[in-house]
Amino acid sequence: MPRKLNILIASSEAVPFIKTGGLADVVGALPKELEKLGHNVKIVLPRYYGIDANKWNLQNVGGPLGVNMGSLGELWCGAKTCKLPNTNIDVYFIDYENYFGRKGPYSGSDGEGYGDNYARFAFFSKACLDLCKMINFRPDVAHVNDWHTSPIATMLNSTHRYDDFFKDTASLLTIHNMQHQGSFYLGDYPYFLGTEYDSNVNMLRDGIYNANIINTVSNGYADEIKTQEYACGLEKAINDRSGDLYGIVNGIDYSIWNPEIDKKICANYNIYDLSGKESCKRDLQRTFGLPERADVPVVAIVSRLAKQKGVDVVAEAIYRLVNYDMQLVILGEGEIWTHFFFPNIAVKHPHKVACHIGYNESLAHKIEAGADFFLMPSRFEPCGLNQLYSLSYGTLPIVRATGGLNDTVDNYDEQTGEGNGFKFGDLTADAIYNTVGWAMYTYYNRKDHLYKLIKNAMGKRFTWQRSALKYEEMYYKAVEKRVGAEQYKIILEG
Ligand code: ADP
Ligand code: GLC
Repeated sequence: MPRKLNILIASSEAVPFIKTGGLADVVGALPKELEKLGHNVKIVLPRYYGIDANKWNLQNVGGPLGVNMGSLGELWCGAKTCKLPNTNIDVYFIDYENYFGRKGPYSGSDGEGYGDNYARFAFFSKACLDLCKMINFRPDVAHVNDWHTSPIATMLNSTHRYDDFFKDTASLLTIHNMQHQGSFYLGDYPYFLGTEYDSNVNMLRDGIYNANIINTVSNGYADEIKTQEYACGLEKAINDRSGDLYGIVNGIDYSIWNPEIDKKICANYNIYDLSGKESCKRDLQRTFGLPERADVPVVAIVSRLAKQKGVDVVAEAIYRLVNYDMQLVILGEGEIWTHFFFPNIAVKHPHKVACHIGYNESLAHKIEAGADFFLMPSRFEPCGLNQLYSLSYGTLPIVRATGGLNDTVDNYDEQTGEGNGFKFGDLTADAIYNTVGWAMYTYYNRKDHLYKLIKNAMGKRFTWQRSALKYEEMYYKAVEKRVGAEQYKIILEG
């Protein structure tokens, strides 16, 4: 057995400190399992000013850190640290007010990405490596996530290739989403990282070419991104690296998303006793101002309200969906038009549709517990966590069969009652309307199957324990690629 690893996990977000989506859930959960496997994990995040120093008891680390940003000169930042709650894992925060002293991690209140995002995350990536030196933590692997920290993989393979400190540091790039690539006009970028470009910068593409190993967050998505339809322009890069590309499905943190112990819901329940779920449904209807009816199915959406999630097609279908005897609950924020469109529908159909625009974790838990069905008609979905949470809460997913949704939801079989959700193929308003209709029919007419589906859903486990073992395998593979088979034997097997 090779020795345990020093693992640096660099990310732009992580639960419980800062979250805009599933990436934060992953980075908050995977390290706990890696720690249980005996590895030495350190997480690095930007210190956005929403991360409260008092609440998390952040301590200063060392002196100021000078990050050489080429043409921008040396930028001096601070580093702070605390433990990931209930673990012994160190989390570090790169503290630089000019870049991170803002409200949102990626964009302001207008929803537009900050104009200097390329500099912010190039800086952050560089600071992550400088921090390692400062705290004398020599990573065997840098696990980087999405475009924001892709420059770490690029630097390790270029400017830092022969730096004694990092010469054996391998990289694993996890692609959580191909749509966001960190693609910018040249600007000052080449001078930051000491590499030359003759066209636009694409941080994700560079990461794909430079990382030792690449993975996405489901097998289905790993296949899809080899095609033009899903690669968002990076199909060549992906296919060039397809020999080093893997799919590892995300898990669930069952200490957070588990109806048996969840403190954010009004009654706990489990697969053997679903009575608590009935109370949660009533609580949800009350919270959203809907008629408190046990007999009417509640269909829910919790989502970034973005095109990726198919919400534009939900908007098209919604005029017909309100004809069903059902209630629709929507929680989300995102594209500006959605902030007007869905509340407007709710005003027109107050007994059927309720909507909360905003980001609200307690409500997300209430919805998972109280709804009967969860609608997720994504255009593409690298993994998707909400359908996994829905399964855990016995809330049957209605999904488009794509990426991680297709891999994790088993379609209802009307003959046998097997399955745990409802799937459709084409993303059209008709398909959404018909598949929701199928779920409604099942709710009203096939109670026997409905309970079977709920039990199947709750019985299916997506543990991080299992996925962490796969990441562990990837880390060793990456190190072997970085140092070569012979060195690997010397360094890791002793
Ligand atoms: P993505 O990362 O693409 O947004 P995922 O399904 O992987 O999609 O993860 C979304 C995560 O963000 C889930 O944990 C979900 O509960 C949460 N989430 C999304 N929108 C909201 C919201 N408006 N309020 C609370 N939680 C939300
Ligand atoms: C991305 C994807 C989502 C995935 C999450 C965590 O935001 O859109 O499908 O679950 O990352 O990996």
